[in-house]
Amino acid sequence: MKAVIPAAGLGTRMLPVTKTQPKEMLPILNKPAIHYVVEEAINSGCDDILIITGRTKRAIEDYFDRSPELEEFLKKKGKEKELEEIRRISEMANIMYVRQKEPLGLGHAVLLAEKFVGDEPFAVLLGDDIIVSEEPTTRRMIDLYNREGAPVIAVMPVERDDTKRYGIIKPSNLSRPPVYTVDDLVEKPAPEEAPSNLAIVGRYLLTPEIFTYLKNISRGKGNEYQLTDALKLFAFSRKLLAMEIKGVRLDIGSPESWLKANIYMGKRSGII
Ligand code: UTP
Repeated sequence: MKAVIPAAGLGTRMLPVTKTQPKEMLPILNKPAIHYVVEEAINSGCDDILIITGRTKRAIEDYFDRSPELEEFLKKKGKEKELEEIRRISEMANIMYVRQKEPLGLGHAVLLAEKFVGDEPFAVLLGDDIIVSEEPTTRRMIDLYNREGAPVIAVMPVERDDTKRYGIIKPSNLSRPPVYTVDDLVEKPAPEEAPSNLAIVGRYLLTPEIFTYLKNISRGKGNEYQLTDALKLFAFSRKLLAMEIKGVRLDIGSPESWLKANIYMGKRSGII
């Protein structure tokens, strides 16, 4: 299975740090957020990974590349543990890059993966969403795809008041947790208009048919090409599933959620 990690957004909620530092490279303890996302892809069986980057995102490529000078330095100093860790990162997976020249939205970013994907199903993991769970979420989604033969999006229940911050699915009346058939998707509905409290999180298991839909949507919310709009069209004519995640989802997109993510991981690892 191939994996696509979109990481080309400008991260405006995290400005000014994201002026020069990719949001996906912000540290969660001593690892950048995207490290955890790449680990999930690998642990789910995805060896070929395409990261969608853009201007000011060079640090992502450098992070997963070899660093001969640093390796030499650590070797001379006898810092074997650090040396091993640095080498391991550069050998984690077969990572390729494509640049999104303008941040025209997540839908536009995913469309850039068309050639890389070919005609197989593929996983999409957002570079700013970490899911801490025993079994990797993407692995569970691949298993569901293999059983049902339909694309899957990950969802999680949210407080009714919070529906306005997420894409929300309308599950079919017949579906039961943790797997739902999606009838419709609504972008950031007010609580009284939300068709459920199931919010879309940053994991998708898609088939190449999605590219046809992505080519047919026009600019939506924020004047950007939205993946949600393509999925909505998809759900009207084909079977689309949603699966509840297990574990804890950490969003690093705003100062508050980034700080909470660090506190959570700090407590989990016993540092604080
Ligand atoms: P977000 O909307 O959370 O990211 O996109 P953003 O646009 O960078 O952040 P704000 O809202 O301005 O603070 C979700 C994911 O999609 C990627 C982002 O990098 C992030 O991982 N993305 C978004 C792209 O790759 N390209 C885009 O044009 C937009």
